[in-house]
Amino acid sequence: MRTAAVKCSVYSGSLILVNGPHPFRSTLSPHFLTAVGGDSGVLMERRAAALLSMLMKEIGGWKEIVPVSGWRSQEEQQGIWDKSMEENGAGFTKKYVALPGHSEHETGLAIDLGLRREKLDFIRPSFPYSGICETFRQRAARYGFIERYPAGKEDITGIAQEPWHFRYVGMPHGEIMAEQGLTLEEYHLFLRQFPFRENPLIYRKGGRRIEISYLSAESDLDGAFADERGLPRTLSGNNADGYVLTTWLDGRA
Ligand code: DAL
Ligand code: ZN
Repeated sequence: MRTAAVKCSVYSGSLILVNGPHPFRSTLSPHFLTAVGGDSGVLMERRAAALLSMLMKEIGGWKEIVPVSGWRSQEEQQGIWDKSMEENGAGFTKKYVALPGHSEHETGLAIDLGLRREKLDFIRPSFPYSGICETFRQRAARYGFIERYPAGKEDITGIAQEPWHFRYVGMPHGEIMAEQGLTLEEYHLFLRQFPFRENPLIYRKGGRRIEISYLSAESDLDGAFADERGLPRTLSGNNADGYVLTTWLDGRA
């Protein structure tokens, strides 16, 4: 039986790297967005929102935490940039606001969270390394979220430390990145050592085995999926020159 050609874009998926050198090139349909944290009006990509909701439920997070900013259109990002340039100047703005067209918030995969307070700082909400915020942080990777702009990695991410900004990358990638202390920039470099078929990474966790590999943009995706062995798989672009293929070898995703 012939299968339909696999339609995927290097520019979409939960692992896309969006930063200074890599703009967000995909378009996001509003159908893929949903509200998080009740009637906040803050939107996220549906799968990311579902996982955030499960994590918040586990820790009773929405009692003390509020969603401050999720999906933003490029126009909104431009508005935030312009206002911050005017009010805070270029030095501050370049540290804490991504260039319009280059913000993870435009992907729907990022969320800024803050401790519930009467007055919230929209650009730099308080999300301390203690209490409920730290409980969230400690469990985030299990649900596929990473603290995207950690201290000490400013030269790599191009952004100052942002304790409040979390990015959905999916499972088990969040856990691998947390265990190895890798930013998303570093994780994509790391994955290049694991080309599809030649040398896949086998990640073991709780008796389960998950195979992860890198495919170049020119790869034959139909061929890659032809040998799928009926196992659960996800494919994400890296937003540059290839894909990351993830296969749950024990059959449970
Ligand atoms: N605060 C992050 C870097 C953004 O504007 O996307
Ligand atoms: Zn943010």
